[in-house]
Amino acid sequence: MVNFAKVIKSHVAQIGAISMLAAMSGSVSADTGAMQLAALSEGFEAERVYMQSCFACHNSGAAGAPKVGDAAAWATRLEKGFDAVVANAINGLNGVMPAKGLCFTCTDDDLRALVQYMVDNSK
Ligand code: HEC
Repeated sequence: MVNFAKVIKSHVAQIGAISMLAAMSGSVSADTGAMQLAALSEGFEAERVYMQSCFACHNSGAAGAPKVGDAAAWATRLEKGFDAVVANAINGLNGVMPAKGLCFTCTDDDLRALVQYMVDNSK
């Protein structure tokens, strides 16, 4: 049972298709949904996902986005604590930072890793 759920979870994370869950049994899909939120996606790489989802705004500073590489901008953001900054990435901020940074296949842990990547590259 546990292994079965694991297999489904990695499969879902890989193709990022929630519709796959519809083909599975209801109880298993509910379990794997919760599990997926608590783990990095299969094959997740912060740099690749950053380039796909975050770079467009966070490299240019579009709409006041804190630029990756701007240590002062990130220091100000981090004053409220890393967890609060991650929460804003997950939920969106002020109507200009879209929820999940438009990475709809990203788990909460993926987004945490992306924020860490951005902070690490802004020192
Ligand atoms: C459409 C443009 C856009 C995209 C795409 C985008 N962001 Fe943002 N982001 C913003 C803007 C604008 C802000 C500043 C919001 C503000 O402070 O009003 C921001 C702020 C943030 C912050 C700071 C939150 C805080 O508490 O100060 C983080 C972290 C962040 N973005 C992460 C991400 C991640 C991770 C991605 C990619 C998965 C991403 N963003 C994609 C525009 C974007």
